[in-house]
Amino acid sequence: MAYKVTLIPGDGIGPEVISAAVDVIEATGVHINWERVEAGGQAMEKEGTPLPAYVIESIRKNKIALKGPLTTPIGYGFRSLNVALRKEFDLFANIRPVRSFDGVESLHKDVDLIIVRENTEDLYIGQERMIDDNRAESIKVITKGASERICKYAFYLAENLNRKKVTLVHKANILKLTDGLFLETGRKVAKDHPHIEFEEVIVDAMSMKLVQNPQDYQVIVAPNLYGDILSDLAAGLVGGLGLAPSANIGEDIAIFEPVHGSALDIANMNMANPISAILSGAMMLKHMGRLKEAGMIEDAIEDVLKDKESRTRDLGGILGTREFTEKIIEKIYSYKQVEGDGYAKEI
Ligand code: NAI
Repeated sequence: MAYKVTLIPGDGIGPEVISAAVDVIEATGVHINWERVEAGGQAMEKEGTPLPAYVIESIRKNKIALKGPLTTPIGYGFRSLNVALRKEFDLFANIRPVRSFDGVESLHKDVDLIIVRENTEDLYIGQERMIDDNRAESIKVITKGASERICKYAFYLAENLNRKKVTLVHKANILKLTDGLFLETGRKVAKDHPHIEFEEVIVDAMSMKLVQNPQDYQVIVAPNLYGDILSDLAAGLVGGLGLAPSANIGEDIAIFEPVHGSALDIANMNMANPISAILSGAMMLKHMGRLKEAGMIEDAIEDVLKDKESRTRDLGGILGTREFTEKIIEKIYSYKQVEGDGYAKEI
């Protein structure tokens, strides 16, 4: 079966890491017909807008996109291109798995958690205004509908991935109405899933607990801004942004992307770590139901990272983006040779 997917290489290191992800996906044998479109700085130069209408049309038509990081040009009507895309397609759930890899130097081992971040409201939407020269205001909106939708999704994920606990993060002791509504809604949703443990943790305490004992957490659900901050914190616990994939999920459209930005300081230098983009590609394959191939990619990354030499520079290795990608591809071919079509490690 051939799939059609919108491919947005993005800015800075985007084209390098996205092309790595495409090559690795091809190596698994999944055939994808990529519809390549440009957004961000590239589109700005050619089309005069960072988000041309054909990008939106392509995603709407194909329903799945793999995208690189975008640099939002200042002064062209967008506070953030990513927020604009999430809004356009009502991509209400931002899913960020965070796991440790054997051998990669990190603050913690045995971390395997998923942050489920509400993606459509809260302070992150940036509804701000100046009251006068000395006063600025930002509006935090939390709705019952969006809170219910994200909490239900967190429990749905926990059930599907066989996780035993969902942790809801809030600051309802101070923000009694907004975070209070999020918490109250989460409690109600939890009642429908009595077999999954439910716990509530205040965001400041959560930051400390995550640094001290990240292994205690399995699925964390949070409003937009706390989810944003905690997911970078969690990525830092296991080796940095170069390892962190993500998915933006809506009712019928999904966009997969690395968590990191366009890293202009290392763009076009064959220095970027492509793991975040490659793992985002693996998340995309899972979304398409290609679990075996997604598992192959995850296993290949895990196996290749065990060798200290076989890493990119951000992880203390010596390989360039391209050379590291070749190692992953070789590993995938080696699985296919050994196990033929019967490759079925548990995933
Ligand atoms: P950044 O993630 O681009 O870079 C932060 C630091 O991490 C830099 O030193 C960079 O070299 C390093 N880094 C990031 N990814 C790496 C990788 N894969 N391998 C090795 N090193 C890596 O964050 P920054 O500098 O805050 O943002 C740069 C631009 O990216 C901004 O224009 C920002 O708006 C945009 N951005 C876009 C995102 C998206 O499209 N999803 C997400 C975050 C930022």
